[in-house]
Amino acid sequence: MLQPEIEILSDPAALAARAADLLEETAAVSIGARGRFRLALSGGSTPEKMHQQIAARVANGKVDWSRTEIFFGDERMVPPDDPHSNYGMARRSLLDHVPIPPENVFPVPVHDESDLAALEYDRTLRKHFDAESQPPVLDLIFLGLGDDGHTASLFPGMPSLAVQDLWAVGSPPGVLPPPVHRVTVTFPVLNAARNVVFLIAGGAKAQIVQEVLDLNAAVDAHPAVGVKPQNGRLLWLLDEPASALLFINRR
Ligand code: 6PG
Repeated sequence: MLQPEIEILSDPAALAARAADLLEETAAVSIGARGRFRLALSGGSTPEKMHQQIAARVANGKVDWSRTEIFFGDERMVPPDDPHSNYGMARRSLLDHVPIPPENVFPVPVHDESDLAALEYDRTLRKHFDAESQPPVLDLIFLGLGDDGHTASLFPGMPSLAVQDLWAVGSPPGVLPPPVHRVTVTFPVLNAARNVVFLIAGGAKAQIVQEVLDLNAAVDAHPAVGVKPQNGRLLWLLDEPASALLFINRR
């Protein structure tokens, strides 16, 4: 795969703090350069701590929430109050605690048919970003890494891995819980971003981290390999246990 920049933090709290710093820095740079900050959040357990850090820092005023727009890299087809909802998690851990105008938040719609929800989200992305910047260029996308090598809801062996002309697609449940249909943004969106940051914590991820960073890893078996921002920065933030099988110089 494209070798990312890798930073290793001592534990999940330090990882969350570093991710929160990056969010604040990228917001300032993006608003300074283009007048707005476009961020995509992910689901999973690791980002929640980062959200809480950002929420706890709201008084520092480093993020201009009136100029921040929030999108989602993927969503599970469950109602927002379901514990598995990525939007619901973002609401509880971050959005309810910061002064972001509701019209600046773009959750993935939830339908029984994930393909329909994906089509609507694809349209939202097309409408909201300038016609000339297609695929949409997000300033920062946070991603996680699943134990099976998936990222966002791009699962091993799925047709979604090959999609080039849609910005969001439906996805059947993967082999990992929760067993629900999902919507995911596609590789063209991930790879058009200015910054992509993986947040990966815990010893249970050490093996898959090593496999994905292997030069011979293939996208079909390890979808995270397909994240290669063309003009952007790719950064992996790992905690010590997640990095345990990597033989790299420690900072
Ligand atoms: C989702 C995610 C998914 C997640 C990884 C890692 O909605 O399921 O976006 O891609 O980021 O499964 O999740 P953890 O951070 O919980 O390990």
